[in-house]
Amino acid sequence: MSRRKFLAKGGIAAMAAMAAMASESKAARAPKKKTPAPPPPPEKPPEEPPVTLTAVELNLTVNGKKISRTVPAGRTLAEFLKEDLGYAGVKIGCGHAECGACTVLVNLQPVYSCRYLAVLADQGVVETIEGVAPAGADLHPIQKAFMEHDALQCGFCTPGMICAAKSLIAKNPKAEDEDIREGLAGNLCRCGAYQNILAAVRSVSRAS
Ligand code: FES
Ligand code: FES
Repeated sequence: MSRRKFLAKGGIAAMAAMAAMASESKAARAPKKKTPAPPPPPEKPPEEPPVTLTAVELNLTVNGKKISRTVPAGRTLAEFLKEDLGYAGVKIGCGHAECGACTVLVNLQPVYSCRYLAVLADQGVVETIEGVAPAGADLHPIQKAFMEHDALQCGFCTPGMICAAKSLIAKNPKAEDEDIREGLAGNLCRCGAYQNILAAVRSVSRAS
């Protein structure tokens, strides 16, 4: 190769190398592409204000006595009767409207007082086991019948059972066995005294 060709070839190679360097340096100087910013976090929903139970005025009759009290709106009838008025005959079993132990009467209707708000009994007539007997009598005929037929063992279900039976017989004085079973279906007896309970209620029904 002639010296001239050698220099020409070397010059071309040097130019190519310079061009590559220039290109690299240009790439290095070029502004880098920005990665897109992550989307902003979703806005928190406004916090709900805390539930405030307001007090309500109650005027009702309990076991023949007129009562006026102010109670929290969320107070159950069982809490009101047991804790505020001291009626210990109101029993709490499940506390979830399942067993019937807490049954009391509101205007002669059986209600599960553990899940029944006291405010719903406003202006009403409430009876617990302490008040089911007729005025002037020690016991209601159904209470006597329970004793005569040995219709209780531990007695825990008995106040609610007797309240439910009183309502049943008041509405259907000639209740047959099927009516009694149906009428007391919402009251459970963990001792299993059902046959004697049925016999007791049957004895006060005019169908017997
Ligand atoms: S305590 Fe109310 S239904 Fe069981
Ligand atoms: S007598 Fe014990 S639960 Fe009925």
